[in-house]
Parts: sequence; structure tokens; C-alpha cells
Amino acid sequence: MTKQTCRVVVLISGNGSNLQALIDQQAAGLLPIDIVAVISNRPNVMGLQRAAKANIPHQVVDHTEFDSRELFDTALQQCIQQFTPDLVVLAGYMRIMTADLVRRFAGKMLNIHPSLLPKYPGLHTHRRALDNKDLQHGSSVHFVTEELDGGPVIAQSQFDIQPGDTEDSLAIRIKQLEHKLYPKVVGWFAENKIALQGNQALYNGEKLLQPKMIQTDL
Ligand code: GRF
Repeated sequence: MTKQTCRVVVLISGNGSNLQALIDQQAAGLLPIDIVAVISNRPNVMGLQRAAKANIPHQVVDHTEFDSRELFDTALQQCIQQFTPDLVVLAGYMRIMTADLVRRFAGKMLNIHPSLLPKYPGLHTHRRALDNKDLQHGSSVHFVTEELDGGPVIAQSQFDIQPGDTEDSLAIRIKQLEHKLYPKVVGWFAENKIALQGNQALYNGEKLLQPKMIQTDL
């Protein structure tokens, strides 16, 4: 059964092209979600402009104004909670979260990471894929758990690395596929197709034994 409308809060730190993909799909009537707020830990970023243009409430909780990660995450949690989200979507949100914050939104928080997890959690994923002479690269959407980029993966998209590829060319292709992959998985959540049980992702109530592979046109 489809939830009435899934209330989504999107957390960003910068550009927000994945946010834009969600905004566009919602506007086109292709996603049963309502993006009720965009929250950035950095002021003056492009993603905030995207939210403003789409008339979405947007706020900054600037991590540099807090003395500790705990104090910052407490403020962030309060900011998120005022919008009573069903789902929190991390879209280029570049802060490590405290366990408290992650637990508060257990099973209700998704992240997109530019690698074929469990390969390359953390930063510089494109460089690491090139350095290791990987044949393929891609992106993963996972439930957020206390382990950085380590929560159960729900879905992935991938493409072949070409001989002339650079970090920049990989970054461009990754974004293209992410803009299809992320809205699809957010849609699954909104339609109650996916859930987190303990440390296990479920799809239609069944244990997801491996990530769903989403084909893109790349
Ligand atoms: C994406 O590549 C995502 O995988 C990573 O951060 C990037 C955010 O890009 N977590 P954007 O801000 O959505 O353009």
C-alpha cells in the first residue's frame, strides 16, 4: 500500500544535483514524495538555491558554529525533527554522523555513495577505482547505519570503465546514473517496498540477499 505522501527531508553539503533529480521527479508526478525541507551544513551552496527555486523550505545548520560533533548533531536532529519526516535522504551530505543521530532515524535514512560498495567506503572513490584498474565502477544506495558507508546496500548501478577515463569523466558518468538510481530507490521507500530489519535490508518483505542492479542507459 502506498503511504499517503512520504515526507522527505534531504540533507546536503553542496551542489545538490541528486536533490534536483528528486525535485524534478516529484514535480513530474513520478515520485509519491513531498520534499518538506532541505538542510545543509554549509551556507551558500548550490543545493540551497535549488531548494529555494523549488519553493522548498531550506535551512542551514552550520557545523563550524558548534564546539563538538555531538552538539552539532543534536541541533541537526532537532532541525530535522521539526519537519516530521518519514524519510531522511542524504544527498552529498559530507559529515560523519554520531551513532545517536543514526539510531534516531534507523530504517528511515538513505545514503548514496559513489562506489560499488562494499568497495571504497569513504572518499576518492573514482581515483581508487582507477588505481586498482577496476573494470567497472558505479554507485550504491544503502540504509544508513553506524558504520560509515557500511549499511545494507539496497540497489546499485554500474558502468564499464573505459581506457581513457579520468576521475572527472567517472564523476560525470556516476552523477548521470545516480540521478536515475536514487529517485528509484526513494520511490521504493515511499511505496513501502523496502525496509531495514536489524542490519538486513528487506525488499517486499523478503531479505535482500544482494543489491538490486538498476540498469541505466550509460
Ligand atoms: C554524489 O556523487 C553522491 O554519491 C555523493 O556525493 C555526491 C553528491 O553530489 N555522496 P550532488 O551534491 O548530489 O551533486
